[in-house]
Amino acid sequence: MIISPFLKATAAALGLFTSAYALPRASHSKSSVADAHPTVPIELTLGVKQVPNILNETAVDANAVAKGYSLLNVTATPRGLTGLLSLKGATNIYGYDFEMLNLTVEYQTSDRLNVHIEPVDLTDVFILPEDLVAKPKLEGDLESFNFDESDLVFSYDVENFGFEITRASTGETLFSTRGNPLVFSNQFIQFNTTLPKGHAISGLGESIHGSLNEPGVVKTLYANDVGDPIDGNIYGVHPIYYDQRYDTNTTHGVYWRTSAAQEVLVGEESLTWRALSGVIDLYFFSGPDPKDVIQQYVTEIGLPAMQPYWALGYHQCRWGYDNIQKLRDVVANFKKFDIPLETIWTDIDYMDSYKDFTSDPYRFPQDEYKQFLDDLHKDNQHYVPIFDAAIYVPNPNNATDNDYKPFHLGNESDVFLKNPDGSLYIGAVWPGYTVYPDFLNNGTQEYWNTLFKEWHERLPFDGIWTDMNEVSSFCVGSCGTGRILDNPAHPPFEVGNAATTYPLNFNVTNATEWSSISSALAATASPVAPQPSSSSVSIDSKNTLAPGRGNINYPPYAINNAQGDHDLATHAVSPNATHADGTLEYDIHNLYGFTQERAIYNALLNIDNEKRPFIIGRSSFPGSGHYVGTWGGDNTADYYMMYFSIPQAFSMGASGIPFFGVDVCGFNGNTDMELCSRWMQLGSFFPFYRNHNYLGAIDQEPYVWEAVTEATKTSMAVRYLLLPYYYTLLHESHVSGLPILRSLNWQFPYDKTLAGVDNQLFVGDALLVTPVLEPGVNYTKGVFPGEDAVYYDFYTHKKQNFKPGKNETLDAPLGHIPLHLKGGHILPTQEPGYTVADSRQNPFGLIVALDNNNAASGKLYLDDGESVNVEESLYVDFVASNSQLVVSPIGEYKVEQPLANVTILGVEKAPKHVTFGETKIPFKYDHKTIYVTGLEQYTQQGAFAEQFTLSW
Ligand code: GLC
Repeated sequence: MIISPFLKATAAALGLFTSAYALPRASHSKSSVADAHPTVPIELTLGVKQVPNILNETAVDANAVAKGYSLLNVTATPRGLTGLLSLKGATNIYGYDFEMLNLTVEYQTSDRLNVHIEPVDLTDVFILPEDLVAKPKLEGDLESFNFDESDLVFSYDVENFGFEITRASTGETLFSTRGNPLVFSNQFIQFNTTLPKGHAISGLGESIHGSLNEPGVVKTLYANDVGDPIDGNIYGVHPIYYDQRYDTNTTHGVYWRTSAAQEVLVGEESLTWRALSGVIDLYFFSGPDPKDVIQQYVTEIGLPAMQPYWALGYHQCRWGYDNIQKLRDVVANFKKFDIPLETIWTDIDYMDSYKDFTSDPYRFPQDEYKQFLDDLHKDNQHYVPIFDAAIYVPNPNNATDNDYKPFHLGNESDVFLKNPDGSLYIGAVWPGYTVYPDFLNNGTQEYWNTLFKEWHERLPFDGIWTDMNEVSSFCVGSCGTGRILDNPAHPPFEVGNAATTYPLNFNVTNATEWSSISSALAATASPVAPQPSSSSVSIDSKNTLAPGRGNINYPPYAINNAQGDHDLATHAVSPNATHADGTLEYDIHNLYGFTQERAIYNALLNIDNEKRPFIIGRSSFPGSGHYVGTWGGDNTADYYMMYFSIPQAFSMGASGIPFFGVDVCGFNGNTDMELCSRWMQLGSFFPFYRNHNYLGAIDQEPYVWEAVTEATKTSMAVRYLLLPYYYTLLHESHVSGLPILRSLNWQFPYDKTLAGVDNQLFVGDALLVTPVLEPGVNYTKGVFPGEDAVYYDFYTHKKQNFKPGKNETLDAPLGHIPLHLKGGHILPTQEPGYTVADSRQNPFGLIVALDNNNAASGKLYLDDGESVNVEESLYVDFVASNSQLVVSPIGEYKVEQPLANVTILGVEKAPKHVTFGETKIPFKYDHKTIYVTGLEQYTQQGAFAEQFTLSW
């Protein structure tokens, strides 16, 4: 098959390809490799064009045709029931229907119900192993269950099998498959549920979409290396939806524990869920509040990792820091402009020809590299390198190239993915033709441990940024088979071409900037002409049909995979790649990133089992948050992407990955002063705060523009001041599963007007951020909910006169991000230092924001910030009421730093005096705020050495 350059270019324009990268020029791409080497031929990158079922008007509607099942032999069990489902007539629409299925319904806890349906004959059926992905467990007495304890009621129809789940307390139907046949075949499983009209369904990430999945939305769940297309499937897969019911003020969640490729169609009053393999393993979480459901779910998939404290500092990255001097310059520039820098990152530039576990001997000579890291560490700063998923296959005819242990060790230990015929599966990524560690292989962890340990001995990095783990391959199928003598082959597209797009309004608001940048670009840009392809596509034709499994590379049901040709193997390792135990990539494609991240986590623990591993990953699955944080992938330097970062963060938080951030200022395309200024401020409130961009784009460190420097410093001062609050939230997430960033509708779940509000975000329960998300304005708008709620301006401490339900207009000149404190909360602070370690040496403070009843509460969690097994910790409770603040510490962890100040907002009348314990102390009272400073003298033993009261 031939795909014309025009088609390819159109698809690229539509964002259907990894948008950062252009097609190859006639000559070879820029690289540190001599240009004598071939490029991976473009024909190998083209899949077989698939017509996605949802776009195919002639596609058969399984609901209209399938005959469904009838239920036999229903037997009550102590925890529910079992039964047999018998096929009423085969239709084999998108695969072969199973005749008999086992149904198990199990009340697992008072808030969780499991519906499990699997074929009686499990030959050739993929069952997701528990040691791969956690399986929610039965709790309590295994032999009996008091069904009245659960708010969920299961009922069923026998003749045309369907089931319904209702909520006992409200009588409302939460889920009902009644009226639609169950379809269960080897390559297509489908069920439907009714939804109420005007529903509020969220979840089903990862995608670039608002929080709500409106009618008409189709979520394709298939991990995909693609530059953040709106609505397309991207890096992570999270098969859970949250259903918020405003008529009954309840929320429930539905999780399908499956690693299969999936598609979920949301209709006006229905939801249709399809998967291309596996079994039905559905979990219903009864809530009843959204945050309850999130906690119930996240607790089962794996509570989020406790990140090291320093991870909360600011991270600077870019593709293009390609020598040590550049890194030193960046670090020095941050110091020069006095902008806090915690961690400097390098992209693939540091590697020797993009090979994992190597560094370029000329641009990153070992001694200088190590020295650079030592210098950073002396200054309490950190370094994180990128790490790509695939391992380079050296050219055996080239002695220097062939000296690449990561391949040979892996090959000897037999830990790489295979083709179905047992040969190595060889795809292509940055360095050329590559193989892929198989994390279902028992030997892979040891292989990984060895390589990571050796690497760390050479280069004591502080964490790992793991990329391309969807898992990505630039060609279709085992394209490197028979081609490894071409290595090092160039990637099949231009790397590092000049970025040509600019944010909305750029030439209006940045006329001067525009002319200087565009003339600079004109001097360097070279046109990129797609080359016509003359040969036909070589697809991996030999092993497409897996015995007993059907056509796994081209399943009868085509999902709407967001790659130009929708082929499952385009830009990814092919579904027929085979794991050590025979598992097909087809069944666990969505798990590659998760298993790889878990193995890196273990490898880092193997290096030092006392320090929390710090890993930022790209692909994710339920449970990833237990090991890593993630970033949002290749976004674009434009306002709409800054906006979408907010619902993306909510969705990742609700998927158990609270430690999330996006490429601040934008990855693809060029940013500009105004966008970067707004984004550096918004990004400073995300748990993971990193600026990163594309190789061909202009520099975007915050010191590049004066206005951005100022905006950044203002916001960072707030972030660093609030580090103890953030760390406490991290810990809360770690023990409870609650997200750090919270949407307004989680905070006020009974206010329907807040469903889908994605332009504001709560940090914890206390702080409400209302960013500017558009160019050319000096104001922004936001809502401030809660009938009885009080909000204070964070900067002026003034109580605001907001009315719930009203869209308030807030002043927001460039450099200012509106931030409000919600009354009722107490926040621990610490004076900002240049690094997190410096900040931790500074005195503490407290901000008490009183509510309408003159009360507030809060907490603080502290430990050494890095231990895996925390031996000494400190929990401090803050309670304010009746003009008294009581501070009660519990725990062994000692803070030496004193408490310096307490600021109490919302004190209606000037107090006569303020006392610390029994001692009268000086204070100031200004616009209803009490300012107490100079408390150090009373807290010499450490801010929270003992309980104390402060009264006014
Ligand atoms: C991928 C990553 C991006 C990185 C690039 C080069 O596109 O998502 O962050 O800069 O690869 O390594």
